[in-house]
Amino acid sequence: MTDTAYPHLFEQVRPLADAPAEERVRRIRTDRWIGYARAEAALAELDDLLTFPKRLRMPNLLLVGPSNNGKTMIIDKFRRTHATGICAGGCDSAVAVPVLKMQMPPAPDEKRFFGAVLEALGAPDRSSDRLAAKQDIAMRMMRATNVGMLIIDEVHNILTGTRMQQRRLLSLLRWLGNELQIPLVAVGTAEALRAIQSDDQLANRFMPFRLPPWQADEEYMRLLNTLEAMLPLREASGLEEPALAQKLLSAAEGILGEVVRLVTLAAVEAVTSGAERIRIEDIDDIGFMPPSERRRAC
Ligand SMILES: Nc1ncnc2c1ncn2[C@@H]1O[C@H](COP(=O)(O)OP(=O)(O)OP(=O)(O)O)[C@@H](O)[C@H]1O
Ligand SMILES: [Mg+2]
Repeated sequence: MTDTAYPHLFEQVRPLADAPAEERVRRIRTDRWIGYARAEAALAELDDLLTFPKRLRMPNLLLVGPSNNGKTMIIDKFRRTHATGICAGGCDSAVAVPVLKMQMPPAPDEKRFFGAVLEALGAPDRSSDRLAAKQDIAMRMMRATNVGMLIIDEVHNILTGTRMQQRRLLSLLRWLGNELQIPLVAVGTAEALRAIQSDDQLANRFMPFRLPPWQADEEYMRLLNTLEAMLPLREASGLEEPALAQKLLSAAEGILGEVVRLVTLAAVEAVTSGAERIRIEDIDDIGFMPPSERRRAC
């Protein structure tokens, strides 16, 4: 391999292009982070929130977008950059958890909610404990570990509860923000937005940050370019060429996770068939079912 081999790949990926097929397939299937502009903007917003001075009324964020469109990837990336560590001071415990991420449990009630907080903190959660006990331990642990931001993924799960449960959980969120004086970040689909907006007081505390479906614009072309440069194929595919880019976008129905899955499938096929590049004519034959068809099939 010369220095100029594989100019379509990122420099650090080039040596991999000479690796055996199995290794390249494994690499292609591994999840990777692409820092597209909207994701970077979301990360910047989250950083901003985390450094916000404590005050009575903390600003909150609602990361909202369709399923499989990169929401969890963003908050996981954010959490990794603010990893749990030794407490540098100001906590009552040996560890500090600057960013705590939990999931809204399905069919949630207050008890399950605090159970999920404890689980996220790695604390034992005895299901037999009464609500008051769970709430007390969870609140004390969040304070002791200096939690500076609480991220609640899958917030739309609130809607699986009864009207009464929904109202109780929404007011619990309001109470939590006030009590801990930390920003809350809710993450979910448009239903999550609907749930939060059904409570006037929450609605004006949560700033929606949208991750809309993708369109055939410059940002999408950049995404394809980056993806192509990360996949160790020996030939250039030119994913951003309009006909191919459009074909991928339509099959993926504008959803990021589907674009990534489709390109990944096509790249594996390109390695195993020996074609070494993704060709538009192969896209129909790789067994990719668009998300709406998949939903119809189940
Ligand atoms: N920044 C990114 N870089 C590379 N791939 C990404 C990125 N964001 C998302 N993806 C791809 O999209 C898939 C879905 O992303 P993610 O799980 O974050 O979606 P989501 O919006 O949380 O979906 P859901 O609402 O169903 O939980 C990922 O598994 C990954 O393959
Ligand atoms: Mg998710």
